[in-house]
Amino acid sequence: MNSAVAFDIYGTLIDTQAVLTRLSALIGDKAPAVSQLWRQKQLEYSFRRGLMADYCDFSVCTRQALVFACQHEQVSISVDAVEQAMQAYAELDAFADVPAGLEALRQQGRPLYAFSNGSRAAVQRLLDRAGIADYFSAIVSVEDVRSFKPDPKVYQHLADTCGLPASEVCLVSSNAFDILGAAHAGLRTAWLRRDAQSVFDPWEARPDIVLEDFGALARQLAPAD
Ligand code: LAC
Repeated sequence: MNSAVAFDIYGTLIDTQAVLTRLSALIGDKAPAVSQLWRQKQLEYSFRRGLMADYCDFSVCTRQALVFACQHEQVSISVDAVEQAMQAYAELDAFADVPAGLEALRQQGRPLYAFSNGSRAAVQRLLDRAGIADYFSAIVSVEDVRSFKPDPKVYQHLADTCGLPASEVCLVSSNAFDILGAAHAGLRTAWLRRDAQSVFDPWEARPDIVLEDFGALARQLAPAD
């Protein structure tokens, strides 16, 4: 049987760039600095909550990170503007190369999974909106195990949902920390370099596959994989 392929959502299938556009309209020229710190803190909060075994919906990490980033950059933001910025997260589009790339994998007969820190409901909304929900056998959310990436148990939960050993599941992600987490848990990995400036953490593990574009995935997974 073909191995399963799982996809990270934010920044891998779904383009988060529109959040910056919305933020610019709300807070002006400090938006790039706030946006960068926002994403960094959003992940940091999820890592910390994972370590503390203090799970909350990922949207809580996102909201609290935005408030932190605004305070840090000395931008005053109203409660209403915070909600508007959060709403942008629910209205993001897929990257343009995603539908064709998923179609090529489906034609290889591979089971495909969406795998995210986001709640199942939030991911479902994004996939429906992008018109790509039908490609996926299931949405696997960390909410099922009440922890966050890169806790090994969330990757094991993904493999269990696929009904396969971890070594027969390939995670595709643009987030290096996610690739390292998946490799640590025994999954195969494909790092998608959405941003040519991105640097892979110089840890012991390397991705099995490095992709410069999404469409290359179906070609790079060997047919018998
Ligand atoms: C996700 C974040 C990590 O979708 O991008 O899980």
